[in-house]
Amino acid sequence: MQNIFDLKNKKAIITGGASGLGRAMAEGLYDANAEICIIDVSENIEKVANELVKNGRKVNFVKANLSNREEVKSSFAKALEILGGIDILVNSAGTQKRHPSENFPIEDWDIVLELNLTTVFTMCQMAGREMIKQGHGKIINIASMLSFMGGFTVPAYAASKGGVAQLTKTLTNEWGPKGVNVNAIAPGWMDTPLTEALVGNPDREPGILGRTPAGRWGKPEDLKGTVIFLASSASDFVNGAIIPVDGGYLAK
Ligand SMILES: NC(=O)c1ccc[n+]([C@@H]2O[C@H](COP(=O)([O-])OP(=O)(O)OC[C@H]3O[C@@H](n4cnc5c(N)ncnc54)[C@H](O)[C@@H]3O)[C@@H](O)[C@H]2O)c1
Repeated sequence: MQNIFDLKNKKAIITGGASGLGRAMAEGLYDANAEICIIDVSENIEKVANELVKNGRKVNFVKANLSNREEVKSSFAKALEILGGIDILVNSAGTQKRHPSENFPIEDWDIVLELNLTTVFTMCQMAGREMIKQGHGKIINIASMLSFMGGFTVPAYAASKGGVAQLTKTLTNEWGPKGVNVNAIAPGWMDTPLTEALVGNPDREPGILGRTPAGRWGKPEDLKGTVIFLASSASDFVNGAIIPVDGGYLAK
């Protein structure tokens, strides 16, 4: 029987692949036989790429600051050249800034919106052009529970992730007819460096875990199945979906 989840001969670019959710999703795609290239600003990127290697299959990487518009373009071009094409794009690079909204510095607003939304749009646009030309492609954006809810002290992040969900739907409407599937994963509360202010925090943790039917923080590995599904032919009729992987948080 043909394995509809197999990604052999598929070429994937994963932003933010040096840590947390991006790293686990990169590993999932690689384990499903995709050829991958991670783009990340982290000093650890080469180390992470080497750690992901199994059976001598290469893990490609491009070190770049995706908050810089020129580097967004040049790193995508470089990754495209390394891979010789693109079938899958995962936009996982993201950042968070927390301040009470009434005192939220506009500089931090700009930082969050630039990386979490503007860069995501530009990456989608560059990948989309290639995918439209070839008549197929899979774009997977990373949304959030805050694509649905407002949160506290995170107005820029909530605005950016609400934007990611809406952008995903717009691109679906325009590119679905051209063979490109654009979807998003909305992770629940996951234990990664991004949430270190919350994990173990007595003011926040009980509320988060108390509302999560699975009764635990998510682990980066929890996203592997969904990203492989969305990157593979198994999801060819899934368009514009924002798929929660949240231990049931939204159900409560
Ligand atoms: N952790 C959660 O609970 C959670 C929940 C929902 C959504 N998300 C989203 O998942 C994505 C990944 O978050 P994570 O939890 O894995 O965080 P993380 O901090 O572990 O990973 C983020 C990665 O992005 C990279 N990055 C940050 N700024 C960059 C820049 N300017 N240029 C290039 N790379 C940059 C970092 O180096 C890091 O490798 C983000 O979009 C985040 O908003 C996380």
